[in-house]
Amino acid sequence: MSKREHWGSRFGFVLAASGSAIGLGNIWKFPYIAGENGGAAFIFVYLLCIVIVGLPVVIAEILMGRTTQRNPVGAFRKLGGNKFWVMVGGLGVLAGFIILSFYAVIAGWSAGYMVEALQGKFSSFHTVTDSTNYFNSLVGDPTWMIGFYSIFFVFTMAVVYLGVKDGIEKGSKIMMPILFIILIILMIKGISLKGSGEGLSFLMKPDWSKINGSSILIALGHAFFTLSLGMGALMTYGSYLDQKTNIPNAATQIVFLDTLIALMAGVAIFTIVFATGQDPAVGPGLIFNTLTVIFGNMTGGYVFGLLFFLLLTLAALTSSISLLEVVVAYFVDERGWRRHRAVLMFGLFVFLFGVPSALSFNLLADFTMFGKTFFDLADFAASNILLPLGGFFISVFVAWIWGLDKAMIELKKGAENIFKDGDWLINAFKIFLKFIAPVMIFIVFLHSTGLLESAIEQVKNYWIIILVIVILLIVISRRRIKK
Ligand code: PHE
Repeated sequence: MSKREHWGSRFGFVLAASGSAIGLGNIWKFPYIAGENGGAAFIFVYLLCIVIVGLPVVIAEILMGRTTQRNPVGAFRKLGGNKFWVMVGGLGVLAGFIILSFYAVIAGWSAGYMVEALQGKFSSFHTVTDSTNYFNSLVGDPTWMIGFYSIFFVFTMAVVYLGVKDGIEKGSKIMMPILFIILIILMIKGISLKGSGEGLSFLMKPDWSKINGSSILIALGHAFFTLSLGMGALMTYGSYLDQKTNIPNAATQIVFLDTLIALMAGVAIFTIVFATGQDPAVGPGLIFNTLTVIFGNMTGGYVFGLLFFLLLTLAALTSSISLLEVVVAYFVDERGWRRHRAVLMFGLFVFLFGVPSALSFNLLADFTMFGKTFFDLADFAASNILLPLGGFFISVFVAWIWGLDKAMIELKKGAENIFKDGDWLINAFKIFLKFIAPVMIFIVFLHSTGLLESAIEQVKNYWIIILVIVILLIVISRRRIKK
């Protein structure tokens, strides 16, 4: 077998991994869920989730990848996981497959809106009703949907086809700085608008009354999605690292950049939304319906609208390549396929699998299973079931099965300077990974599948559930010791 490809530099890895993390989740989803859940207070809870659960699991995933130099399936196997754990890795590959299939549909909208912006279409919108009707007519058109979905897919495949260093790393080095610059321009524009102060205080003055169990769970669930956790994307990217990289450092930078971009997108979007007196809590339509009307009516809106959708499309592209890479890495490592063949074959496969999702807004709108369209079903299965479950198993595996002692020996490589024994940071990391992350993730999982509500109905008490999970963890760890 040929030698495994590696990143050209540590910086290249951090950019590529940040590119995976920064995506539709940061620019499309984060602002609207923050808007719906009370702004600053929600953001505070979200930041806590990022630090307490996100960062430890990011480190765990990258570490598994670097140690084994394998895709998720191979990684679990190489670290001594039995059939069950290998299957967990397989679920990650499956999640990559499913997420890419619907992610590219929304990314296609964004690419399509770039063309609309280019043609100056937004200036014909006078009210949100105009833009909403227009949006509905576009997504209702199967040709438009499939067209831009395909274009976006071709770009994704092309980058992955070129390989880790010449495709993913190089692409990220070009796209991420552009993304950053556009966001800064949009932020300055937003802040300079009259009345933007209200948008800023919406982001900074917490309204705690909006925070409840459900918004905490939304924050945690989103922390997962936005950091690309739970399906082995970061594990796969980590597998192209050499043993000299300081993982805790790199992970902190990735998490920081992801959070920074989400907050910057929040500032850009809410200053514009408040300055023009629009509603911040309209939900998913915030970008395609609210923002487009604003762009259509402000000075320089043509350029800013165009820049905005270019930003969104680039952010989506650096994420979608990481999704495809997980699938490709599996076939290359485990099945001995050549990269080019794997990209063409499985790119096409995922593409076809996503066609019903693209048609869920038009031809197949009435075709529902469990009350959901194909698109909603794919989104639900991946975001609400596979990702939280994957994150849960990854933290349990590293902390309890592979074992923190062995994991720490690996983590120390390249990170000797921050790794003094008894260091409080390292101890905090161990506690978070061992107890806090799995317990919290499991609760999110129960919530997002609707099981939590029925469980609470049954036991009327959160603490009993936490206790059950802790006992479960202890049982798992005892089994390992007996072996
Ligand atoms: N993190 C990406 C975003 O925020 C989505 C993603 C999830 C990418 C899982 C890869 C893996 O848009």
